[in-house]
Amino acid sequence: MLVDLDGTRRAVDARSSVEALHDVTHAEVLARYLRRMADQAGTVRLSPIWLAPLRDRVVLPEVLDPGAGWDGAEWRPSERWVEPAIGVVDDPAHRRQSPLRIDLPRGGNLAIYGAPGAGKTTTLLTLALALACDHTPADVNLHLVDFGGQALGALSALPHVGGVVLANEEEKLVRLVRHLSAELARRKAMFGEAGVATLPAYRTATQHHVPSLVVLIDNLPALVHTYPDLEDDVAQIVQQGARWEFTWSSPQRRRRWCGCGSPTASAKRSRCVSPTARTTARC
Ligand SMILES: Nc1ncnc2c1ncn2[C@@H]1O[C@H](COP(=O)(O)OP(=O)(O)O)[C@@H](O)[C@H]1O
Ligand SMILES: [Mg+2]
Repeated sequence: MLVDLDGTRRAVDARSSVEALHDVTHAEVLARYLRRMADQAGTVRLSPIWLAPLRDRVVLPEVLDPGAGWDGAEWRPSERWVEPAIGVVDDPAHRRQSPLRIDLPRGGNLAIYGAPGAGKTTTLLTLALALACDHTPADVNLHLVDFGGQALGALSALPHVGGVVLANEEEKLVRLVRHLSAELARRKAMFGEAGVATLPAYRTATQHHVPSLVVLIDNLPALVHTYPDLEDDVAQIVQQGARWEFTWSSPQRRRRWCGCGSPTASAKRSRCVSPTARTTARC
């Protein structure tokens, strides 16, 4: 004889009931009973304590700010300045899943570490696309240097891209480094004259829309290995440029170039975006 929690008595087969009792715990029986009662009473289920796990693949439009940036026809103004969203962060302690944003002006430079195939080039592509979606070409200029698998060339049609320099294009690379050095000196003078320290402050003070320059280098070690004569010039621009809003993002190993650490710690529970056909179509 079994007595249900509502007091109903039922005759049961002794052998099968012994097996059944071995298979289920008291807690499970109680939970099932309560669920049945709640279903009958039409009780609305509480939302779970944890949010659903992050999906394996997240596409860029899901993390971009829906109220700002490129809407398919024009760029709407954004409150954020050069803070591309490149993934999703899962923060279970606060029951929050939010875009993984990289504050480039604040960080100065971004180094992306990882084994071959870890997704470094994909991160650069995502970062460039997110910036292009967020800002007009008048606000953000991108310079791409590709010493990797030439994947950055896919971005050359973006109106933000000043040029893509490949590993065998020494003259173009030298011209780019010269251009950036000259621009660095020009900005130092301009900011000094206006008495400001940052690009947003300069833009506000003078109403002169000087763009943020973002330089993306795929495989910096290969660049300095192939062109050792350029190492000092590039290192100087990287070190001094952040203040004048030249931001460098590069998969690299050398600490000489900037003081940032591996992004892995903060990205432990995050999912980076993979640029897809949908992404490029929106941009
Ligand atoms: N966030 C991501 N989501 C899905 N696939 C990715 C992601 N990042 C990289 N991949 C895939 O992993 C492979 C290696 O990526 P890649 O960026 O070339 O790595 P690395 O530059 O570190 O060698 C590519 O096929 C790429 O499409
Ligand atoms: Mg790569």
